[in-house]
This record gives sequence, structure tokens and C-alpha cells, in this order.
Amino acid sequence: MEKHADVEYVMLSEEQIATGVKAMAERLDKLYDGRTPVVVCVLKGSVMFFADLIRNMKTTLTIDFMSVSSYGSGTKSSGELKISKDLSTNIEGRDVLIVEDIIDSGNTLYKLKKLLNERKPASLNIVTLLDKPERREVPMEPEYTCFVIEDEFVIGYGLDYDERYRNLPYVGVLKRSVYE
Ligand code: IMP
Ligand code: MG
Repeated sequence: MEKHADVEYVMLSEEQIATGVKAMAERLDKLYDGRTPVVVCVLKGSVMFFADLIRNMKTTLTIDFMSVSSYGSGTKSSGELKISKDLSTNIEGRDVLIVEDIIDSGNTLYKLKKLLNERKPASLNIVTLLDKPERREVPMEPEYTCFVIEDEFVIGYGLDYDERYRNLPYVGVLKRSVYE
């Protein structure tokens, strides 16, 4: 695959992602054996991972979508959680699996998890494609992680910079010249 001119280097190839996602789907099938979880896609960054993950899972499941952003003072995402699209499913008593693209400071998911727990699900787990643990500002550990990565700004496979590059089939590091 020819890489995009704005990509410094490919961090995870299509093949590496496919292998990681398949292995994760198998783990989740074991976890949810005999149950019917509602799998939640956190828009927009998770779309690719979500679609590939659920199509690799054999568990009977339902899906739903949510769009959230956390606003804070200045550049920090430590403020309030703004829901621009909420779930249409009543999750009380359901097994909920949140699908995230990347965990950075952890602020967004920390607040989302708290909010969804108030709705009394039977269980609540988070699966993330990528994790940048070095950047964490709050105690937020996902139950399932496909890839732990270095502190680099990445794009592709759903992840964006200024809403662009989401359609790249791999995860790449964005050239600094694009945003500096
Ligand atoms: P946080 O964990 O609350 O800091 O926010 C995580 C969100 O920030 C993710 O869902 C992404 O939308 C965005 N984000 C964090 N790091 C990156 C990155 O390297 N590339 C693209 N988006 C990122
Ligand atoms: Mg996101």
C-alpha cells in the first residue's frame, strides 16, 4: 500500500491491524459466551475498528452509536462531557461493550464510563484499538487493548487530524509539517 504524502511512517499496517482485531474478537467471543451484549461505537474515530471487530465476532449482539466530546478550560479535555448523539438502546441490565479508537488523556472515557454506569448496565467493558498510556491524566484503564503505542499523533483507520485521513486503511504517524 502506497503511503499518503502526509504520513511520516506507517505504525500499524492493514495486516497487523487485521490480525490484532481478529484476536480481540476471539477474546470477546469467549467473554460474552451465552450473552447478548450491546456493542457501542463511539463516533467517529471508532467506525473502522467497530465494523471490523463485530464482523469477526460470532456472539449474538446488538449495536448502537454514541457521539461525545469533552470540553474543558483551555486545551484540556477535563471539563464537561457533551453528548451530541446518545444511545437509542435502554442499557439497564444489558452487557455493554464500548468500542473506542484511542485512549489518550483518558478524560473522555472516564466521564463516559461514569455516565453509562449510572444507567445500571449488567456489565460495562471498554475495548480500544490503541492506547497511549504515557499521556494518561486520570485513572482510566480499558479492559481490552489491541495495541499499546508510543506518544505520537496518529491518523488513519478511523482516526483523524482536522477530520481528514480517516479513510486510510492503516495507522500512520502524521508528519509534523502538517500541523506545525
Ligand atoms: P482523551 O482520552 O479524552 O484525551 O481523548 C481521546 C480522543 O482524542 C480520541 O477519541 C481521539 O478522538 C482523540 N485523539 C487522541 N490522540 C489522538 C491521535 O493520536 N490521533 C487522533 N486522534 C487522537
Ligand atoms: Mg474519538
